[in-house]
Amino acid sequence: MGGASQGIGQAAAKLLAERGARVILLSRRIDALEAVRSGLPHPSHHKIIAMDMERIEELNLTLGRLVAETGPVSIWINNTGGPKAGPLTEATPVEMERAFRGHVMASQVILRTLLPGMKQLKYGRIINVLSTSVKQPIPNLGVSNLVRAAMAAWAKTLSQELGPFGITVNNILPGFTETPRLTSLAADAAARGSKSEEQVRKEWMDTIPLKRLADPRETAEAIGFLASPRASYISGVSLPVDGGRTGAF
Ligand SMILES: NC(=O)c1ccc[n+]([C@@H]2O[C@H](COP(=O)([O-])OP(=O)(O)OC[C@H]3O[C@@H](n4cnc5c(N)ncnc54)[C@H](OP(=O)(O)O)[C@@H]3O)[C@@H](O)[C@H]2O)c1
Repeated sequence: MGGASQGIGQAAAKLLAERGARVILLSRRIDALEAVRSGLPHPSHHKIIAMDMERIEELNLTLGRLVAETGPVSIWINNTGGPKAGPLTEATPVEMERAFRGHVMASQVILRTLLPGMKQLKYGRIINVLSTSVKQPIPNLGVSNLVRAAMAAWAKTLSQELGPFGITVNNILPGFTETPRLTSLAADAAARGSKSEEQVRKEWMDTIPLKRLADPRETAEAIGFLASPRASYISGVSLPVDGGRTGAF
């Protein structure tokens, strides 16, 4: 489970552990991961990888070693921090390269490490936490819009390649969800628009048919379903969990 130290990743790790999964918790901050693990049922069942997803060579080695110890992994959730906010015109090529490394290339490294085990099991669930920008690009999230689209293409292509092995690949598209990421986006939007963060949140809520922000547990429920055997005939989809906000079909 990527991005497991806070927000949506933490909520999903908790839900999966409550439903009996042995979880690999991945993110950079070991202390935060230890704290999450200690709050899960059967803490000793869960492993930690404290690593920057952008360091793909180390990720490859460390995850490979862990899988050699634990045996095949049947579910993987690609989730990591969103790229810095800002218009695409202001993005540097270095920022773009970092975002592709931490999202697309890291996901590919993880895939190639876990795929032999999933094929052996003839079963797998790959879920990517992306954004509703897959359906409608979001203003002021230029680099994020780019990498989410790339990840959606990655996932769709894989769903076609991996279906014959009993492996499904799907995307969750969170809307405005109460996590530390949203707090920083609200602060950024407030600073850019000379407004208070409360005003920014109110304006966001006005655009959502359900008139509230999501609790990360609600996003985790969708992840939990797609990760379960009950989602056996669903592959290649992008599921918004956005309170009805996205206008596209
Ligand atoms: N919240 C929303 O409203 C919303 C809406 C649309 C899309 N999303 C996207 O959904 C994803 C999850 O959202 P969130 O709100 O839960 O995000 P978040 O609160 O920012 O949490 C991101 C997680 O990723 C980890 N992480 C960040 N950079 C990393 C790196 N380089 N290597 C390894 N781990 C890294 C962080 O932990 P460490 O600091 O320990 O590394 C943290 O656990 C993000 O991609 C976000 O952009 C969120």
